[in-house]
Amino acid sequence: TLLEASNNGDGGFIFEENEETRIKRSDFPSGFLFGTGTSAFQVEGAYLEDSKSLSNWDVFCHSGGCGENGDNGDIADDHYHLFLRDIEEMYSLGLQAYKFSVSWCRILPRGRFGEVNPAGIMFYNKIIDNLILRGIVPFVTIYHAEFPQELEDRYGSWLNPEMQEEFLYLAEVCFKSFGDRVKYWITINEAKLIVEYAYLWGTTPPSRCSEPFGKCFDGNSDVEPIIAMHNMLLAHGRAAKLYHEYFQPKQGGSIGLTVYADMYEPLTDRELDHEAAKRAFAFHSGWTFDPSIFGDYPDELKECLGNALPSFSRDEKNFMKNSVDFIGINHYSTIYAKDCTNSSCSATENRAIQGFVETVGERDDVLIGEQTGVEGSYVVPRGMEEIVNLIKIRYNNMPMFITENGYSSPDVHEQRVNELTNDVKRIEYHAKHLASLAKSIRGGADVRGYFVWSLMDNLEWLSGYKVRFGLYYVDRKTLARIPKLSAKWYKNFLINNTDLA
Ligand code: NOJ
Repeated sequence: TLLEASNNGDGGFIFEENEETRIKRSDFPSGFLFGTGTSAFQVEGAYLEDSKSLSNWDVFCHSGGCGENGDNGDIADDHYHLFLRDIEEMYSLGLQAYKFSVSWCRILPRGRFGEVNPAGIMFYNKIIDNLILRGIVPFVTIYHAEFPQELEDRYGSWLNPEMQEEFLYLAEVCFKSFGDRVKYWITINEAKLIVEYAYLWGTTPPSRCSEPFGKCFDGNSDVEPIIAMHNMLLAHGRAAKLYHEYFQPKQGGSIGLTVYADMYEPLTDRELDHEAAKRAFAFHSGWTFDPSIFGDYPDELKECLGNALPSFSRDEKNFMKNSVDFIGINHYSTIYAKDCTNSSCSATENRAIQGFVETVGERDDVLIGEQTGVEGSYVVPRGMEEIVNLIKIRYNNMPMFITENGYSSPDVHEQRVNELTNDVKRIEYHAKHLASLAKSIRGGADVRGYFVWSLMDNLEWLSGYKVRFGLYYVDRKTLARIPKLSAKWYKNFLINNTDLA
């Protein structure tokens, strides 16, 4: 039983279920898919193997951007060589689905300036075939944060509309090569988060506005993330149009987008804070899903951003509208929203591009939830039900997947392997979030799957390898994958239809 499993290691680690964590596989519809996720850059490694080109993130990490220890994706989890074993692990857990991304640099190392790389196609063919062999449904993200550095150097990537054509070509190659077997496509992962970090805060490549907010306050700089976002949305729309017109009729799959969807609760009962929470939603999930479902930006954006917000032409509106078949929700945390139009806020947050909303983790000196290993990310399980219900109402209960939900422990030190693998807090996190999700499903929300981020510890972008989200602990020296208690819990939950035996 799980209890025994937890006592096998260090007797101090026991997961005990209670009201909030009691959850069973059978609390979910029978066709509901349970899986895990990864992304290419975070796990693959083999960064120059078989004609892969350097990505924007390779270059960024090599210049010291990825954590304090000079971490990079050169080897990562070496999933490029170990993928078969990783798929066996997934199978042994009883997973039904796996969300991963293709590396743009493996498939089209030079974008449209070069050829399709057969080795890249072969690699993903092997992954897809082996997943299917094991009865695991592949969910494929086409663009997950990294692309060939050459596209940055040649024309400044997402600031240039040419990038739409680059993406469209990549998407077409993917549909053609894998669409006979891949039935769930995600065009772009967390677009809004990417543009904020890359073009507003300047903390991720291409590091625009990289001076500590210096350049960002010159009055114009907010324009860049808005333009980058516009190009990403159109890139998605064009790819979805192509898929819907030419591939879906033959291949019969579906296509969607994933957003970073924290839940926002009003900081106080003031009407202004309620409005702020609504605006925060519009400026995050709404920025992506309103255009791709309704064909236009949310009113809140138009009001706050004025002329800085580009508009969609009639033709663009047409193909943007209904361009997703499902909504992908990456949900981790819930935070308070504070209105900045009528109260003083920190200068970095009180900006049009944030909808004049400041996010705050505590109210009356009490944290909204326990802090996780990611700054500003708290454990607030009720937020899962809340965000799903919000999205359900706003988008007319379109099919949804929880494409990511995960926990990273605060204060992590490599030497405390025992604590890291006896991850009772992670189990609690998932059990509570699943219980909250089950409530929304009982309330009628059309949620069809849930993916734990992540299958295994991996390269957490700016934080390097020290932030660990995995069900499997990855030893950085040997790259051995060691199942954490949470992996055993997930397996129990899936295979034995039980939480505690
Ligand atoms: C969002 C991203 O999709 C993924 O790449 C990242 O590692 C996790 N969330 C955790 O922050």
